[in-house]
Amino acid sequence: MSLRGKRIIVGLGGGIAAYKTLSLVRLLVKAGAQVRCVCTPAALQFVTPLSLSTLSGHAVYVDLFSPGNETGTEHVSYADWGELLVVAPATADLLGKFANGIADNALSTLFNAFDKPVLLAPAMNTRMYRHSATQENLRKLRDWGVEVMPAETGGLACGCDGEGRMAEPGQIFSRVESLFADSSRTGILKGKKILVTAGPTVESIDPVRYISNHSSGLMGCRIADELTRRGAEVHFVHGPMRFAPERTVYEDIPVSSAGQMFTESVSLWPDMDMAVLSAAVADYTPAEPSPEKIKKQEDGMVLRLVKTKDILQTLGQEKKKRQLLVGFALETRDELENAREKLRRKNADLIVLNSLRDQGAGFGCATNKVTFLAKDGTVRPMECKDKEAVASDLADCMERSYALL
Ligand code: CTP
Repeated sequence: MSLRGKRIIVGLGGGIAAYKTLSLVRLLVKAGAQVRCVCTPAALQFVTPLSLSTLSGHAVYVDLFSPGNETGTEHVSYADWGELLVVAPATADLLGKFANGIADNALSTLFNAFDKPVLLAPAMNTRMYRHSATQENLRKLRDWGVEVMPAETGGLACGCDGEGRMAEPGQIFSRVESLFADSSRTGILKGKKILVTAGPTVESIDPVRYISNHSSGLMGCRIADELTRRGAEVHFVHGPMRFAPERTVYEDIPVSSAGQMFTESVSLWPDMDMAVLSAAVADYTPAEPSPEKIKKQEDGMVLRLVKTKDILQTLGQEKKKRQLLVGFALETRDELENAREKLRRKNADLIVLNSLRDQGAGFGCATNKVTFLAKDGTVRPMECKDKEAVASDLADCMERSYALL
């Protein structure tokens, strides 16, 4: 996506990561964007207005009440001018101000007056980042539609190693590009009701033991986040997992067993426009779970399992016109062939194939390498990407497939 001529405001908070923002401004200007910089007074402890004005080619806006301001309403004229506001570094203080409507400096006032996309790149000490106040502010901002680049883990200015490093300028630049690409998208997912299943299921053997699998549910969370970001109403049915979506989904339905996931999914389906079944559902469950703890036996024991009901197949059978059904296929051999067969047998419209043989794919991994197989025969092998980017590719594919229904 070309940034030529795009009007981007870069806001800087007072953190040491502000030095990296100079490179971001350089990258944006090099890509042809028009850039204006806005600083908090604290940011000027770390970078100078001269560096920013030299790189951006424009004076820097810092003081709400400077006599040099032409009209005294610079924050409004900046808000009218900019197409995107990028705040890097977004300090704990700025996040608190943004999330609570406090407008007491040039940047926080501009945020209040800005009604177009905003991208935040937080940077702070690990404890400050993990603090409930910061996390609560971030959740609130995300729910308002603000884009947040999660802070990274690594060496921090305080000398410790941990979460809280600002994303690298190159990554922020790529996100800016994809945000502009987003705005040229079809918007097909807006307002659509989408069932997303995620995580493992847990099949009880007795009150103490269970059968489950290694699914972390992270991919499903990223999918729920991306679909919510695009304006869909996500009904999130998930097994027990340590991850949760970063955005507030429309409806959160925690379940435990394959049977419960089946019941919830089947009852939602007639009302849905689409379903993405990313859960790792147990194929078998104990035939007679014991109400009491099973006592140890002398020579081993045999556990009789019965097949669970296949959610994807059932939704496929009950699918109506204008309903889009997306399944996953986790394969270890004859990947494409098996995935094609699954697409047909389960009457899905799209299959997301992962191979456990691929580097960077698998349980709990931050990345995934997938291939999309559509009903019309299209096969799209993708690069290994972080799960956020995979979710965005999937949402693009869903938009394309839905348009063809
Ligand atoms: N799935 C489901 N209900 C089940 C089992 C699987 O909805 N009881 C869904 C999964 O959520 C996934 C897809 O079916 O979207 C494929 O899952 P996978 O385990 O790869 O396929 P299976 O049908 O179980 O086939 P096999 O294990 O033989 O490869």
